Amino acid sequence: MTDFDTEISKHDGFSISEQGNLLFEECSLEELAKIYGTPCYIYSENIIRKSSREYIRAFEKCNIDYEVLYAGKAFLVQALAHILKEECLSLDASSGGEIYMALAGGFPAEKIHFHGNNKSEEELVFAIENNVGTIIIDNFHELNLVDRITHRLNKKVNIMVRTIPGVDTHTHEKIRTGQVDSKFGIPIDDFLDSFPGIIAKEHLIYQGIHCHIGSQLFDMQFYHLAIKEMVETMKHIEEKYKVKTNILNLGGGLGARYTRKDLSLSISDYVFELVGKVKEICRENRLAVPKILVEPGRSIIAEAGITLYRIGAIKEIKGLRKYLIVDGGMADNPRPSLYDAQYEALIVNKFNNKPVENVTVAGKYCESGDILIQNICLPQAENGDLMVFFTTGAYHYAMSSNYNGVPRPPVVLVNNGEHGLIVKGETYQYLNQNQVFPEWLAHK
Ligand SMILES: Cc1ncc(COP(=O)(O)O)c(C=O)c1O
Repeated sequence: MTDFDTEISKHDGFSISEQGNLLFEECSLEELAKIYGTPCYIYSENIIRKSSREYIRAFEKCNIDYEVLYAGKAFLVQALAHILKEECLSLDASSGGEIYMALAGGFPAEKIHFHGNNKSEEELVFAIENNVGTIIIDNFHELNLVDRITHRLNKKVNIMVRTIPGVDTHTHEKIRTGQVDSKFGIPIDDFLDSFPGIIAKEHLIYQGIHCHIGSQLFDMQFYHLAIKEMVETMKHIEEKYKVKTNILNLGGGLGARYTRKDLSLSISDYVFELVGKVKEICRENRLAVPKILVEPGRSIIAEAGITLYRIGAIKEIKGLRKYLIVDGGMADNPRPSLYDAQYEALIVNKFNNKPVENVTVAGKYCESGDILIQNICLPQAENGDLMVFFTTGAYHYAMSSNYNGVPRPPVVLVNNGEHGLIVKGETYQYLNQNQVFPEWLAHK
């Protein structure tokens, strides 16, 4: 086994053909690049299904009532909604648009939970008219808005309340959400004080409480702290107001492996720890174990996705740095510039060559900060080489933009040697399609 074989075996879905080509789910990366062009996002159907099933199987073993909600913000398109439905997952949607895409993909409305810290009236009406399963109330303005809409439409809706458990995780500050000073959710004390007003709303059916403490987490200590806060809040409600909280939603957050430096925690171990802790704290508080919900995004989809780029210009600043400049960058992957996110990558057509030089992989966009990998050791690169970036399935396409007027790349699904588009690449015409001239300008 070569160094490369051992290296690539760490990445799920990869193999090498008899002819020595690098394959992802039995599809040659060179072939995919020729057919779909670069940059190109590629997703493994098999990995999506495998991680979804790992969540379901782990919960099944715990012998409790549960629901696994895939967090659509990580990546959502109609084809994915279809796969998730087949895998019996529910959906955490964070906008009217995500609800729309899921419904169009045949996803059952009653399994959609609607999130967001400033849902508009239009979005709420759309969700309620389409009978989404649950609305997660983020703040008091929204509570009153949902109350007014449900009165007007004469409809009842299930609600959960997003609370701030006051847990400060050590993840990047831009993906931390459970700390006291947060724009998401209601502080627990305020929630408890206003509880009678919440359950008095005639059209709102109180189901439970929610928290999400952050993302890219591997340390279960933070979840333990959040679970303690949440279970004690449920206990408080039961004692003070004689109301049972049936559902506890602990949000998402389990991390993905971007580089070998990242820690790792399997989906099953995460679920067992989480459920074990809820059971333990419920026992201590003499509370019945509630239905447990989780909202994984990254841990289901991140490692199912890769991105292909072609190297164009190569620049050497003598004595300082060599830049390999690829045909994508911050518009298809804003995470390095947003969060200093780190990646591993390979040159596909030289995957067996020895890494010989330290280089910086830069994007093509007009920002000095558009650097995809600051420092990576690769074989001697040339113009036209194909690069693959690993673990690009979460918060990449979903956060992409048309910065610099560049059309978004296509998204391709692969499985067992088959491949097909799930999102077409955008075109120049697409960039213009919503642009119009105001009348006074058109007549000049
Ligand atoms: C409320 C909520 N649930 C779930 C998630 C998904 O988190 P992750 O992708 O880290 O699992 C997020 C991410 O920001 C979130 O805000």
